[in-house]
Amino acid sequence: MQNFTFQNPVKIVFGKNSISQLDQLIEPKARVLLTYGGGSIKRNGVYKQVKTALKKRKVFEFGGIEPNPSFETLSKAVELGRKEKIDFILAVGGGSVMDGSKFIAAAIPFKGKNTWQIITSQGAAVKSAIPLGTIVTLPATGSEMNTYGVISRKSTKEKLAFGSPLCYPKFSILDPLTTYSLDKKQLRNGIVDTFVHVCEQYATKNSKAPLQDGFAESIYKTLIDIAPAVMSGKKDYDARANFMWCATMALNGLICQGVLQDWSTHTIGHEMTAFFGLAHAETLAIILPAVWKFELNKKADKLAMLAENVFGINKGTKKQKAEAAIKHTVKFFNSVGMPTSLASYNLKPADCEVIVKRAAEQGWQIGENLDINANTLRKIFALAK
Ligand code: NZQ
Ligand code: ZN
Repeated sequence: MQNFTFQNPVKIVFGKNSISQLDQLIEPKARVLLTYGGGSIKRNGVYKQVKTALKKRKVFEFGGIEPNPSFETLSKAVELGRKEKIDFILAVGGGSVMDGSKFIAAAIPFKGKNTWQIITSQGAAVKSAIPLGTIVTLPATGSEMNTYGVISRKSTKEKLAFGSPLCYPKFSILDPLTTYSLDKKQLRNGIVDTFVHVCEQYATKNSKAPLQDGFAESIYKTLIDIAPAVMSGKKDYDARANFMWCATMALNGLICQGVLQDWSTHTIGHEMTAFFGLAHAETLAIILPAVWKFELNKKADKLAMLAENVFGINKGTKKQKAEAAIKHTVKFFNSVGMPTSLASYNLKPADCEVIVKRAAEQGWQIGENLDINANTLRKIFALAK
């Protein structure tokens, strides 16, 4: 096991009707910036619950944070926050609203010339941040309990991640009832994103960390168990509650401690969203199986472990088990209605040359083996056809 330092300060308030607890979580005198997306919270009643719970606090609103939140949109919120001297941000929505709000929180007090430096420095330039709380309405990213934000810049077709411990939410409210208004595509995307987060932290080299492996396998198994009930679209509270907690636990810093991580699928996927406009999880489902095929030998130990401990495959050589893990993962993605090839989106490996070009310009060496570069990336796109 590798050395690590671990601290996660986020207070989680979980359960039915927990939005009403906002009143105890935010200072009565706070000047709150309420941030949200395109309006789902107004349609499903969450906005009303939030406004009621905030009581007579001074609340400013910034709606319209789009999926894959853009620097361009968020910069308007930064202007508003500075003008109104807000001292608390309440992000209500999915990963895009939470990520965008972390950027706003870091950008308002930012002293540098250009707040884009927050992103180009991957968060290192963040020296202070306005305190932030979240109410999650889409289980997927784990943003509610981590330091990361992924921000897009439309003008340059970039999509990049940043992270700073100053961007940990002070609290996050997780009410599974808020997920009842999600459509099947959003549910599918959330399940796949969560699953792939576990993969990026599990399917590397064997770090001899069976406790972390066991946590990860437990998230995989829970997701596989609850997926049919979640995807049925029925108001199955326990299925939604377990889904929500899986998503948070998959990317809150617990399962990655002491183990090697990959994240190449995410890095490649972010570029595919930036260039082709695919949803985050759609890109992951195309790329993950291709990365695994490309890395089959180097990942064989952990993929075989996935086959045995999660998919129940006990026969065959290590390599055969690793191959079976890839097949079963693809089958699982397909079972929730998620396509797993470029062709499903009318894309060809040749269309991905724009990403290969960017990888060459930036000198990529990604994945736990640092062996994914512009040349090998081309092979991965060929495997994803
Ligand atoms: O904008 P509104 O109207 O709220 O609608 C949203 C949006 O259209 C809708 N939605 C959210 N909750 C809803 C709902 N619709 C009905 N009922 C509800 N309860 O869902 C749509 C997608 O929302 P979005 O926030 O974009 O989805 P998601 O949570 O999947 O977030 C994706 C973003 O997070 C980043 C992704 O790259 C992407 O930009 N990620 C962030 C990570 C992190 N912070 O750690 C890690 C992830 O790997 C990921 O990269
Ligand atoms: Zn993700």
